[in-house]
Amino acid sequence: AKLPPIPQALLRWYDANARDLPWRVAPKARKAGARPDPYAVWLSEIMLQQTTVATVAPRYREFLTRWPDVKAMAAAPLDDVLGEWAGLGYYARARNLHKCAVTVAETHGGFFPDTEEALRALPGIGAYTAAAIAAIAFDRRAIVIDGNIERVVSRLYAIDTPLPAAKAEIREKLEEIWPQKRSGDFAQGLMDLGASICRPKAPICLLCPVSSRCKAFKAGTQGNFPVKPAK
Ligand code: ADE
Repeated sequence: AKLPPIPQALLRWYDANARDLPWRVAPKARKAGARPDPYAVWLSEIMLQQTTVATVAPRYREFLTRWPDVKAMAAAPLDDVLGEWAGLGYYARARNLHKCAVTVAETHGGFFPDTEEALRALPGIGAYTAAAIAAIAFDRRAIVIDGNIERVVSRLYAIDTPLPAAKAEIREKLEEIWPQKRSGDFAQGLMDLGASICRPKAPICLLCPVSSRCKAFKAGTQGNFPVKPAK
């Protein structure tokens, strides 16, 4: 029998196994057509840049309760945003958060732009974050690559170039397989796979939805990837 393509297998797995995270739309609501709020996606992605999911989740809820939309955050004094950020570290993120909220409120009418390029032009939004928001909030076909995704892809294709040089190859492979539809779910499916199954140590390949497509698994070499840079 023909193997299902990677996106199909991964999205099916994601539908059954997605982590229930506060910035995600529940699968049922999603099926009924609900979309995530771009403001909420932006806020979560900024918070997750250097902070773990477990730390971010409760703090994210507090931010959203205090400032339910971008105009509310833009209207707040910077010091209030910095105060709410306390303990999350990397305070440049909080300054840029406020600056970005003001920019979106004042120059975009309170709506986040829906392309990677326009998102990239906003304060605090780099290449990764622009791609993540474009994919997750707007279902744009944007290639999202974080550390988890790098590891998953380097194993799938047994990429033996060491990081960071491997990044170009990883991007090429993702360009080849990235689906037109459900781009944001595909990105988050790769993230979840990397967090729960395709872990750095002791990956659980027997539970992996794409092991039949994984070059490293077939060779029994999953522990060798990603190849670390020589010291
Ligand atoms: N890390 C960064 N963005 C994430 C997301 N949308 N879901 C889970 N982990 C993430």
